[in-house]
Amino acid sequence: METEKKKSILSGIQPTGVFTLGNYLGAIRNWKSMQDEFDCAYFVADLHSLTVRQDPADLKKRSLDAYRMLLASGLDPEKNLMFIQSHVPAHAELGWILSCYSLFGELSRMTQFKDKSAKHEDNINAGLFDYPALMAADILLYQADLVPVGADQTQHLEFTRDVANRFNGLYGDVFKIPEGYYGKTGARVMSLQDPTKKMSKSDTNQNAFISILDDPKVIVNKFKRAVTDSETEVAFREGKDGINNLMGIYSAVTGKSMDEITQEFAGKGYGDFKIAVGEAVVEELRPIQEEYARLLTEKDYVEACYKKGAETAAYVAGKTLSKVKKKVGLLPPAK
Ligand code: TYM
Repeated sequence: METEKKKSILSGIQPTGVFTLGNYLGAIRNWKSMQDEFDCAYFVADLHSLTVRQDPADLKKRSLDAYRMLLASGLDPEKNLMFIQSHVPAHAELGWILSCYSLFGELSRMTQFKDKSAKHEDNINAGLFDYPALMAADILLYQADLVPVGADQTQHLEFTRDVANRFNGLYGDVFKIPEGYYGKTGARVMSLQDPTKKMSKSDTNQNAFISILDDPKVIVNKFKRAVTDSETEVAFREGKDGINNLMGIYSAVTGKSMDEITQEFAGKGYGDFKIAVGEAVVEELRPIQEEYARLLTEKDYVEACYKKGAETAAYVAGKTLSKVKKKVGLLPPAK
């Protein structure tokens, strides 16, 4: 009997700071749960980070830290293809080719572009605008079936599908059309200080986000300070953005439903609830923090992992890139 081919998964994360609880619950935790069932590729999207001005020494350090954090989060480099984006030149090459199939109008509509250009008015660069073409290249190079991301990336995924369809329409079936994969809980973790905004690692207010390496005491304190409302009931309903967010986090971490959470905290105040959320998050993150600390002493191992990852990724991505170059009519180099 023919064995069924595993579906392929690809996802990436920018090394713009220590990962947040949002990154973890929205993406990385799902990546981990997929590693046995699927063929997975995960990478540190350092080229994407250049769209916002970075301190070079800092970026270099954060890229290594980010790779180590992926390992510490339980992703196994023997089971998954794990690499750093800039180590695989095919990403930049296909990114360029796909920019030539991306339309000004559709790129202008991207929410992330609008948000980031408002935030960095002095540096609205072409890379920021073209960001989705590079992201499409990341995904399409590996012929991914599924892309596990948080809800904030939906628009970029739709764009990827549009570009892939446009390209396939012109040249035949070159790219697999990927689907987004969103976890049941945690797909949109909001800021603890402004629960109408997503939790982000680049937020200037440290109390707005939980880093996965925050000290346990800091985590509980940040939850204690989380913005809620003037009511007292722990219940999930419209208008209670802060409580809804905390319930979402607690549910993602404990597996309890919203009703169960409401019952658990019936008659208790927000104070008790916030502490419980903080403590549950501390327990969830504890093994990651311990493994991260251990990996700090395993420099050679970490380096060997991303070296091997880049070699395999270059091979896989190279196959798609060659096909693309041939289709669009680029003359192959002489042998
Ligand atoms: P990035 O680095 O902003 O975030 C990495 C992942 O974390 C998810 N995420 C969240 N999920 C829930 N709640 C939040 N508050 C939250 N904040 C972030 C993101 O949805 C993402 O899944 N463009 C991507 C990186 C990228 C990529 C790719 C992803 C580059 N190429 C190819 C997938 C496939 C980004 O900036 O993610």
